[in-house]
Amino acid sequence: MSNRETTADPSLDTSPSSATATQADDAQGAVLTDQRILVLDFGSQYAQLIARRVREQHVYCQIVRHDITAERIAELAPRGVILSGGPNSVYEEGAPQIDPAIFDLNIPVLGICYGMQVACQALGGKVDNTPSREFGRAMCEFLDHDSIFRGMKDSEQVWMSHGDQVSQIADDFTVMARTSTCPYAAIRHNTRPVYAMQFHPEVTHTPHGGQILHNFVREVCGCDGTWRLGDFADAAVEQIRKQVGDKRVICGLSGGVDSSVVAALLYKAIGSQLSCILVDNGMLRKNEQKIVIEEFSNHFKTDLHVVDAEDQFLSDLAGVEEPQEKRRRIGYAFIECFKSEATKIDDAHFLAQGTLYPDVIESGADKDGPAATIKLHHNVGGLPEELGFELIEPLRDLFKDEVRRLGLELGLPEQLVWRHPFPGPGLAVRCLGEVTREKLVVLREADAIVVEEIENAGLYRETSQAFAVLLPVQSVGVMGDARTYDNAVAVRCVNTDDFMTADWSHLPYDLLARISTRIINEVKGVNRVCYDISSKPPATIEWE
Ligand code: XMP
Repeated sequence: MSNRETTADPSLDTSPSSATATQADDAQGAVLTDQRILVLDFGSQYAQLIARRVREQHVYCQIVRHDITAERIAELAPRGVILSGGPNSVYEEGAPQIDPAIFDLNIPVLGICYGMQVACQALGGKVDNTPSREFGRAMCEFLDHDSIFRGMKDSEQVWMSHGDQVSQIADDFTVMARTSTCPYAAIRHNTRPVYAMQFHPEVTHTPHGGQILHNFVREVCGCDGTWRLGDFADAAVEQIRKQVGDKRVICGLSGGVDSSVVAALLYKAIGSQLSCILVDNGMLRKNEQKIVIEEFSNHFKTDLHVVDAEDQFLSDLAGVEEPQEKRRRIGYAFIECFKSEATKIDDAHFLAQGTLYPDVIESGADKDGPAATIKLHHNVGGLPEELGFELIEPLRDLFKDEVRRLGLELGLPEQLVWRHPFPGPGLAVRCLGEVTREKLVVLREADAIVVEEIENAGLYRETSQAFAVLLPVQSVGVMGDARTYDNAVAVRCVNTDDFMTADWSHLPYDLLARISTRIINEVKGVNRVCYDISSKPPATIEWE
């Protein structure tokens, strides 16, 4: 899952559910490229990785549902189709299948792992449970060095991860590669452009997997590799101008990457027709409001509205301890503040949001998107609907790393583009129990020390999120000769690619020691610091 930092405000991370957004997406897809690859998602955690690898070949790639019809694929006219892996056994009842007519479209198909099994089964082969399940590295013998395997050595390392494998291929297939336990490690159809492999070319443990994907998309599918983020920016700017005309667009700024990139893109497209709103809910990090305003005014000379709403948020949160209720109240207060500011802006017709591609996929809002679990939002939606805005979501075709690169292309500073995500409800979900002004002061100071020390150690880019949590716990300590009974702070620092799973960062002891000493010495009211060494799952990244 992507992190949930969004444009209008992270606390509003609304699913892209409006008809407007979907229509815009179709139109935008057409402008973006006439050469695309589709990944049919059979439920693999790697489907997104495949899409990214294809985009790294400068070829536009979209993930679609596995049960997409051949007719719909013909309409989308991709240059090639990749069938992803998946957790099921293809011979089990109810296992995801493929419309076999896809193989008659004369569009190149590459099946990977489950994708291979589903293709083989549909084309007359047999799949069985393997006596020796294979997980991990394997040496693969390449018998064919043409087409998808051009440039591969006779023997190369590949990554296997399967319990089933193809046990029999139909007569019109030829074996391209094998391992000691997998006689059909890769195969090709003799007359149709259909290729399949049991191993995973998309993971880095298949060192030349990139070459294989390159061969498929560039050589076999004939994509010329001209898709560039710069082109994306130009096409998106064009698209925004067409959609907006001479109307006004409101964009919520949160200080995060996504909203900043949306604002930069809109500014490039429509300049002074853009109005931005920053709601300071009082739950921001130390100096956050100042930093956002500075960055904003350095980059855009447009209308900025800052709403100082700390008092309102704090009074709405008074006495509330339950985490979901805190989120709900923050979301509601945000809508109120945003709405009242937005109504002061004449002629506002559109609301821009930083929905990213994984959000679109996860929310199931894309009509071709896989039926992945609906994202469980902690957040509150409904803003565009309530205000009668039309949505603009210019980043809904991009992954997070692409958004960062786009931000750099648009001239945003590195420190903004690489900023860690910050949740919409802000420090409220890191100040456990009731949120008060006094507690926020303590938390803000401790948090600033954590971030500063991690930056000083040169580890900010290597870590995905780093912050302090103020625990609802007092403990006994001794400072000087006096006994103290003060707060405990937890330090949380994680590494993750997708925020769905995360590992606690193995920070050096001396760094942890510095963080602890500084917090205890410099932050009044804290006498104990703990380091959170829980991974996600089963823990989550945030404490509430
Ligand atoms: P968890 O705590 O679920 O967090 O492991 C995963 C990612 O999502 C962020 N997060 C939120 N973002 N509103 C947001 O905008 C929220 O209510 C929220 N809760 C968690 C979290 O910071 C991490 O990046």
